[in-house]
Amino acid sequence: MKFSIAVLPGDGVGPEVVAEAVKVLEAVSQRFGHEFRLHYGAVGGAAIDESGVALSDDTLRLCKRCHAVLLGAVGGPKWDDPLARVRPEDGLLALRKGLRLFANLRPVKVFPMLVDSTTLKPEIVRGVDLLVVRELTGGLYFGRPKKRWQAATGRRAVDSMVYSEKEIERILRVGFELAMGRRRKLVSVDKANVLESSRLWRQVATEVAVDYPGVELEHMLVDACAMRLIQRPTYFDVLVTENTFGDILTDEASMLAGSMGMLPSASLAGVPGAGATAFGLYEPIHGSAPRRAGQNMANPVATILSGAMMLRYSCGLEEEAGVVEDAVIAALESGCRTYDIMDEGGTMVGTREMGDRIAGRVKA
Ligand code: IPM
Ligand code: MG
Repeated sequence: MKFSIAVLPGDGVGPEVVAEAVKVLEAVSQRFGHEFRLHYGAVGGAAIDESGVALSDDTLRLCKRCHAVLLGAVGGPKWDDPLARVRPEDGLLALRKGLRLFANLRPVKVFPMLVDSTTLKPEIVRGVDLLVVRELTGGLYFGRPKKRWQAATGRRAVDSMVYSEKEIERILRVGFELAMGRRRKLVSVDKANVLESSRLWRQVATEVAVDYPGVELEHMLVDACAMRLIQRPTYFDVLVTENTFGDILTDEASMLAGSMGMLPSASLAGVPGAGATAFGLYEPIHGSAPRRAGQNMANPVATILSGAMMLRYSCGLEEEAGVVEDAVIAALESGCRTYDIMDEGGTMVGTREMGDRIAGRVKA
């Protein structure tokens, strides 16, 4: 099969980790005979340097013409001025909004050989396999009014947590659909004891649940959820939540896996389900790590696993996705470790060597 993929390497270690994911995609095309047509574009600081904006109309158009987008990371000290007119992160937010990527999937899986690399006790994190579904184009990030002004009493600012029932319903459906393919347990996270938008969220979640009698739905308050996540993370299968809650909970959840360098993500414009594919953007959850850039140090696994999610959700290539995931496990089992997951008995490798090892396993 033929696929067009927009590749946006971005800043910092972004280009290095994306190069390894591309290497693995090439291995997949060799083994299975698919064709991935790659179209490169700029985003973030790289785009600001090139054109003065964090995402140009041309790049957005390019993404819209493709089946999926593979992204590295954006940001860096060079563009960090708080008074700057444009920020690298704006590029990411513009992609999410411009491509209608409302469903952000952030799986957290603890690899058995890495249980000792987390800050939590191994017996707590062993066996963790959860998926956070974060609403990505609504809530506090995009709600209006959103502004800052000078009032008689001093400066004031407002952000708004706004949700329509349609927005809540479609993200809940993503949660239910994905739970169906997993352990059939969905935790809907809100703050219904305080927030009106959360009370609507909870009500809509309960209504949507009627269509999914095979899935057990539980409502959980976000503060309790934050606690539960480190107290007993194996409790969770799929979580579904509002944009800002999801932003915070996924950084917390990422620490269960020891390193952000292991964790992929997908941002989808549709509901994935039995056989259905959706347009999506795929990126590692780690940032641009400017201090590690250009040193062949960064862990490419998160980006390579993001590529596997792309094969699954946007290309419908389930078997191929599984082959990539197995190749990652095989490389880790053989002792390959980048600096962030280095342990006793491991062999320290660089970004390229890790990519080579995984790509080699895919071809085998
Ligand atoms: C994330 C990041 C972004 C967010 C930033 C970079 C805008 O933290 O993807 O979680 O807050 O959504
Ligand atoms: Mg975040």
